[in-house]
Amino acid sequence: MTDKLWGGRFTQKAAAWVDKFGASISFDQQMAHEDLEGSLAHVAMLGKTGIIPQADADAITAGLHQLQQKLEAGELHFTIANEDIHLNLESMLTDLIGPVAGKLHTARSRNDQVATDLHLWLKHRLPALKSALSDLQSVLVAQADAHAGTIMPGYTHMQHAQPITYGHYLLAYFEMFQRDYERFTFTQKHTDMLPLGAAALAGTTFPIDREFVAEQLDFDAVYHNSLDAVSDRDFALEFLSNAAILMQHLSRLAEELILWCTYEFNYIEMSDAFSTGSSIMPQKKNADFAELTRGKTGRVYGDLMGLLTTMKSLPLAYNKDMQEDKEPIFDAYDTVLGCVHIFSGMLESLTVHPEKMHDATIKDFSNATELADYLATKGVPFRQAHEIVGELVLKGIQSGQSLQDMSLADLQKAAPQIEADVYTDLTSEAAVNRRTSLGGTAVANVEKEVARAKQILATHA
Ligand code: ARG
Repeated sequence: MTDKLWGGRFTQKAAAWVDKFGASISFDQQMAHEDLEGSLAHVAMLGKTGIIPQADADAITAGLHQLQQKLEAGELHFTIANEDIHLNLESMLTDLIGPVAGKLHTARSRNDQVATDLHLWLKHRLPALKSALSDLQSVLVAQADAHAGTIMPGYTHMQHAQPITYGHYLLAYFEMFQRDYERFTFTQKHTDMLPLGAAALAGTTFPIDREFVAEQLDFDAVYHNSLDAVSDRDFALEFLSNAAILMQHLSRLAEELILWCTYEFNYIEMSDAFSTGSSIMPQKKNADFAELTRGKTGRVYGDLMGLLTTMKSLPLAYNKDMQEDKEPIFDAYDTVLGCVHIFSGMLESLTVHPEKMHDATIKDFSNATELADYLATKGVPFRQAHEIVGELVLKGIQSGQSLQDMSLADLQKAAPQIEADVYTDLTSEAAVNRRTSLGGTAVANVEKEVARAKQILATHA
């Protein structure tokens, strides 16, 4: 036999570099806390059911508590020779309390152990991510509140389309982040399930009590199929796909903020605290953190694609391929949490230039739809109204005149239905405030939606 914990049937030792290739301890030590927690629940069950003598269970429990203290104190030193977090901790337990430590692995396998650790890891961390997301949503709502009436161009195809308000724009992201929040809540249900007790793949001959273990670990449910319990990584993929969608939202917002900070737009200015300078060009102030978030989106997509591909075609039940599940999860979690925090600070501290935004809606013909709608309400078929206004826009471009600058006589030449009241419809304020349809950009609507958003935030635990 070799000196491995599983070395009984082996006669030859692997070289250190081969051990290193197979080891996961460099990254799965992040789950040390969860591994000890899972072991404590398992041993409590082994003692309670009489599968091992209570005195042995007590000795193991005491040893695990010592390991918890050492972990907190940073006194645990993991080794590649012990492969992963499970074998490292078991070997440390043996050093502490002797051979009785070997009873801990009764009715358990590393396959259900690692699945349990990963469920716990994510279950413990999703609340912090949701709360960071909630904070970001609160910042958006506060800014939307302050800017419910700040008029800016709304775009399609990156061309000026119709005026909107900055508050309305911000609330669009509030809604996206709310769906992200709800997706993470949904995933919580799937992390809240106990795989332990599935053993290697088929269950165990010992009279275990899985409900008791679930209660100890505060899991809401237990897996009802042992093969599924050790093979399922759906919960991790769900988390990663939610994370990828959230990053997509952040990256779209990032893109717009970066653009709006440019000399050409100048709609907003990032605070110095969320900008960086250039080592060569003294005038530069770069929106690095928005850019970095946009860039990190690729990384989180990679985490998702990586694990999807790892899991593709894997036969049931456990395969060592699945050791590749942890790094993407850890990486995506840290990345997303960091980006969400950064965006809260960035959005809260940036300066808005309302006059710049408003000015951009004056000479851009973004009131053309208003004139077409005006004609339609006077009985002109919309298609025809569209054509009349299109021709007026062309004339305006040629003569350097906006629609609202044209004389009533000129407008009436194009369409005799036009009367003097047209000019009130042609202001950006009217364009915004007449859009009172549900979900529209009217200031009163935005104010109402701010109130609704606040109510939604109040439901976040
Ligand atoms: N380090 C392994 C992983 O992360 C633990 C499970 C090992 N199980 C096994 N049968 N080799 O997946």
